[in-house]
Formats: sequence, C-alpha cells, structure tokens
Amino acid sequence: MKRERTQRENWGTRFGFLMAAAGSAIGLGNIWRFPYLTGEHGGSVFIIIYLFCIAFIGLSIMIAEFAVGRRTSLASVGAYKSQNRSWTFAGVLGVLSGFFIMGFYPVVGGWSLAYMLKSLTGLLANPGATADIFNAFVAAPVEPLIWTVIYLVLNVAIVARGISGGIEAASKVLMPTLFVLLIVIIVKGVTFPGAGEGLAYLFRPDWSQVTGNTLLAALGQSFFTLSLGMGCMITYGSYLRKEENIPANALSIVAMDTMGALMAGLAIFPALFAFGMEPAAGPGLVFVVVPAIFARMGSIGPIMSLVFFAALTVAALTSSISLLEVVVAYLIDERGMDRKRATYLSSIVIMGMCVLSSLSMGTLSGVKLFGVGFFDFFDILTDKIFLAVGGMLLTIFAGWFMKKEDLKDELTSGGAVEFGLFELWYNLVKYFIPVVIGVFAIVGIAAIEQKSLMFFGLFLIFVLGLFSKKL
Ligand code: PFF
Repeated sequence: MKRERTQRENWGTRFGFLMAAAGSAIGLGNIWRFPYLTGEHGGSVFIIIYLFCIAFIGLSIMIAEFAVGRRTSLASVGAYKSQNRSWTFAGVLGVLSGFFIMGFYPVVGGWSLAYMLKSLTGLLANPGATADIFNAFVAAPVEPLIWTVIYLVLNVAIVARGISGGIEAASKVLMPTLFVLLIVIIVKGVTFPGAGEGLAYLFRPDWSQVTGNTLLAALGQSFFTLSLGMGCMITYGSYLRKEENIPANALSIVAMDTMGALMAGLAIFPALFAFGMEPAAGPGLVFVVVPAIFARMGSIGPIMSLVFFAALTVAALTSSISLLEVVVAYLIDERGMDRKRATYLSSIVIMGMCVLSSLSMGTLSGVKLFGVGFFDFFDILTDKIFLAVGGMLLTIFAGWFMKKEDLKDELTSGGAVEFGLFELWYNLVKYFIPVVIGVFAIVGIAAIEQKSLMFFGLFLIFVLGLFSKKL
C-alpha cells in the first residue's frame, strides 16, 4: 500500500546539516567511551587500529548510508524496503539498535547533567573520594533517574520541533560550544608538569597489547562513534538536498569526529598522568578520574569541571537526539504517525528501558539478562553485535543489491560534483569492507564472554531476517 507522502523535511543549510551530523557522531562515544577504551586497550595501539577502522571502513560506510538515504528519501526501514523487501529486516535491526542504545545512553547523559551541578557543590572537595561519590550516585534508586528524565525531556523538546527548527537549530549552537569548551580544558591540561607522559601514552604504540578483543573494540567503537550501522546516517541523508556533495560532507564529519575523540584524549590523559592516576579506570574514567584531576587544580577546579561536564552533556545531547530521530522517523515514515506523537510515544518506552538500566547499577544489580545487567545488556548487544552486523549488511546491500549507476549518480549529485575515487569507494564497499567486518566480527564476537547474550543477539538478527518480508 502506498501512502500519500507530504513534502519531506530538509536541512536548512549545509552548515546546519554538518553540525547536526557531526553532532550525532560526536557524543559520549568520543568523550566518555573513547578515553576509557583507549585506557583499557593499551593507549596508542588502540588508537591506531581505531583510526584504520575509521579511514578504511567508517568513512566509506558513512558515504554509503548518506547515498542510500538520499536516493530513497526515506529513513532506514523504508530505504531498504523500497529497494528490496527481503532487506527490510536490516532497517528494522537498525531501529532496534537505536532503541536499545537509547536504553542506556540517556542514563549516562543524566549523570553528566548531574555532574555539572555537582561540580559546584562539593564533588571536588576531596580528590580521593570521587570514586565513592560516583559509585554511590549511580547506585542510588531515585537521584540518577530524576536526571535521566530531565535529560530525556530535553531530547523530546528538540526532536518534537523537527529537523531544521529543532535538531539543526540546536546543533548549530551546541557543537561550536563543545569545541570551545574542549579547547579550554586541553590548554589547561597540557600545561601541568608531567603532562608529556600522557602525550606519549596517546601517541607511542606498544604492539604487544593487540588481541582479538582490541580489534572488535576498535571496530565497534568506530561504528558507534560515527553513528553507523543502524540507519542514523541513512535517516539524516534522507533530509539532504540533492545538490549537496555527499563524499565531501562525509569526509568533514569523519574528520570532526576524529578530532573530537583525539581532543577528548588530549583533555584527559596529559592531566591524568600529571596527577599519577590510573588510565584503565573503565566506564567510570570521566566521572571518577576527571573530577579527581579538577579537584587538584585549586580554585579554578570547580569551574573547569563544570565546563567539562557541560561539554559532555552537549556532546551527548546532539547524539541522542539523532538516536531518537531514527525511531521517530521510522514511526513517521512507516507507521504514518505525526512527529509529535511519534516522539512522545517512543520516549515513554525509552524511559522504561532507562529506568531498568539505571536501577541495574544498584537496586536491580542482582537481576541478570543473559548473564549481564540491563545497562550492559543494551550496551553489549548494540556496540559489540548489532552495529557491526548492521554496517556489514548495509555494505552488502549497497554493493550487491543497488545499481552501481544509481550510486554513482547520487554521489556525484547527478554529475554536478566530482567524485574521483568512486571506483575505489565502490570496491571497498562491495568486497573489502564486508570481508573485513566479517573477519573482525567472527574473531571478536566469538571472544565475547557472555556467550548466551551473543547467541541471543545473533538469533534475533536471524529471526528478523526470516520474517523480513512481513516487517
Ligand atoms: N555517535 C554517538 C557517540 O559517539 O556518542 C552515538 C550514536 C549516535 C551511535 C547515533 C549511533 C547513532 F546512530
């Protein structure tokens, strides 16, 4: 059944689109997760593999996602479905990934919001106490939930206003703010005596640290950080005007995202080493180690800490609105809902998942799903399994099921712009990337400790595939 579609929303300006897409890419993945993964996986070796994944896999997939989205003018499910119904499941898998990421992302966003206030109200009183403060805060039954709700309401307010009036308008202000805030922190951090050791940690590789796990962590992170493998960039591409140069825009977005991650590393590690702290602190890194650093800075500490968590919140917000948009666009395109209703409805369900995630840090810590708590369930399922599989499916779809001429037409805006590397890109997408992801994923997914969770994830994808034509 073909529904009458009204004129599709568009980005207002190129700058607005760039900020929104870079805003989606730069998020908790860059400032919260990238530093702790780097810390856990041996510093610069992890960064090198990560940069390889970004340059040879991520960039090409981003170009492909934009091309598919703009070609079809539909968000991910519709985009796949309109070309080939057997592929609908790949789009649905993406929406599901968006949903699940939203099951934990706003919880961390809420922590960040809370830490803005806490920076000024005693968080930094004792550098030795930041771990205890963090552990007690996240395990509390009510306080983190209140912050998660506030954080989600901000998301709803922006997404309900639509593409150019909401997402684009917010990103145009928030993203430049983020870069300025990060620069302030870096300039302060690298001037501490002993900061050089942190720079060496970031930029001098120790190859003995590489394992199968490092590979999957780097691959998963490259998808997560670029918002790939779940149809987000397909959706953002569907609002892109025909005359926009896709490869050039994608390159700028990837460059900004990489800069964002490296800047976060530069903001944290030099100061961390200068104060003799532990780089492998895990997910608590920015909430435990960073406040402890600021606590040692004297009277400017609280204000620097406020600036840092403001940056983190801003980064998170421009990403989670894109995650929400994936779900909302699906409801608008495929279920015929209006934007406001779609936004409210999906947020209510998301809130339910966030409550479970947040409580899994304390009250519900004994409740396990496939051997892990709710927070880790949503995180591992998406980051370690769904995104990589989603990215691989997209390249197979673009490389083998779409017409080469159509892709070329899209990437050159109907011949109006040059894309000299088209053949290289096409071959990467068609042959190289599916194979590399396949190898990384087999090595990495097999290394996931929670075997039952791994089987559950793969089983879910299989079932979706089986019923693809009915979705
Ligand atoms: N790229 C975001 C980050 O680095 O935090 C997270 C994200 C946003 C992942 C949107 C996926 C997505 F579709």
